[in-house]
Amino acid sequence: MKQLKNIVVGLLGFGNVGKGFAAVLEKNKAHIESTLGCGITIKKILVRNPDKYKDTIVPASLFTSNAEEILADPEIQIVIELIGGVQPACDYISKALQQGKHVVTANKAVIALHGKELFELADKHKVSIRYEASVGGGIPIIASLTKSLAANEIEEIVGIINGTTNYILTRMDQEGMSFQEALAEAQEKGFAEADPTSDIEGEDAAYKLSILTHVAFGVDINPREIPCVGIKQISEREIDFARQLGYKIKLLATVRKNGGSLDVHVHPALVPVEHPLAAVNNEFNALYVKGNAVGQLMLYGKGAGPLPTASAVWSDVLEMAKVIQNQIEETNTIKVKNGFKPGHISSGSNAYYIRLQVTDRPGVLGKIATSFGRNNVSLESVVQRGRGGKSVPLIFITHEAEWDKLEAALNEIKQLDTVEEVASILMVQSRS
Ligand SMILES: NC(=O)c1ccc[n+]([C@@H]2O[C@H](COP(=O)([O-])OP(=O)(O)OC[C@H]3O[C@@H](n4cnc5c(N)ncnc54)[C@H](OP(=O)(O)O)[C@@H]3O)[C@@H](O)[C@H]2O)c1
Repeated sequence: MKQLKNIVVGLLGFGNVGKGFAAVLEKNKAHIESTLGCGITIKKILVRNPDKYKDTIVPASLFTSNAEEILADPEIQIVIELIGGVQPACDYISKALQQGKHVVTANKAVIALHGKELFELADKHKVSIRYEASVGGGIPIIASLTKSLAANEIEEIVGIINGTTNYILTRMDQEGMSFQEALAEAQEKGFAEADPTSDIEGEDAAYKLSILTHVAFGVDINPREIPCVGIKQISEREIDFARQLGYKIKLLATVRKNGGSLDVHVHPALVPVEHPLAAVNNEFNALYVKGNAVGQLMLYGKGAGPLPTASAVWSDVLEMAKVIQNQIEETNTIKVKNGFKPGHISSGSNAYYIRLQVTDRPGVLGKIATSFGRNNVSLESVVQRGRGGKSVPLIFITHEAEWDKLEAALNEIKQLDTVEEVASILMVQSRS
């Protein structure tokens, strides 16, 4: 073991997470140094505009707008990338690895889109790259999958991994707000960005799901190819129907083993109220994991925010310091597990919630049920709401069905003269 007196790090970015990183050091310095068994110094911090950072908790002299002052400094052992976005963050990470520096990043976009190249580059230069904060903020999901659950074959991960959408859906459910009202409140409270498109369309969750799929199954999936439906179309009415039937609507990011392939998707789904994910509210995140030895478990916590995210960044830095002290050569690439075909995404089988708007006439239900049956879609329950009107909603919960069969049944059902529209199709999460 190499007895180090000090670990020297350089920061790229000093926004929410960068400031949180410095705040955790200030708050927990003695604890961190005793865990490390040596001192730790932030030597330089890259920002675009150093003048903006004259009055922060770190000395103004640390700030630079020249990345080379960090990337080419032989004394800096760990580069911590907290800029965000794909470029120049990805180039800076590549340069740091090529210079033989270890890298810690919180950047989901870089890891989801360029992880494979960066892991190979890190292996080539015999350094490590870590990214705990890129998924689930303060929740230690990457370490759980790679260490604590390493002996398990992972069967399924279902996550609520976007705080903005979870906040919006919670407020719609608890306060009867419309989507627009809940979004405006989320923006006011800082839980949603001025441009919330990436969150509400599910793209942010798809990036994180692609990282989870890589870590749990060794399979690389381009996040842009993950089937993804956001929450814009979810109305107060749908949330109300779901509640009456004993469900909450949540935006779920799912990766599940399905024979030799993986079902991977981001989709709003009905979650039974007794399922632990149904109790994950507001800006909180959670990851529900099934392993073939451990069974089911759920990690719950803050998926964003300066201190929770910095907590995850620090966990990587402390692990990295051990790698340096013990001169460990880590392998960063994760091999494809159990013969999964890289990038193979199947549509899989799911239970579905179908809401039809129908003309209230005798015999309607029978004809619709016959179409489902003819296409091998079996029904768990049927509910009719608002009897007496001319046009009424008819809600079906199916048992697990393949999408192709459900689609064939719905195509038949749409042709019936009593069916006005297929108003909504949502997935239903299983009870366990
Ligand atoms: N915020 C969260 O709660 C959270 C949670 C999980 C993960 N993350 C991830 O953490 C990373 C950082 O997020 P953040 O919220 O801290 O971002 P942020 O508040 O926007 O801060 C970005 C920082 O990077 C600097 N920067 C941006 N572009 C730069 C460039 N081209 N060259 C040099 N410096 C540049 C900015 O400096 P200037 O001010 O001078 O422009 C600023 O200091 C992102 O990858 C994000 O996805 C954040």
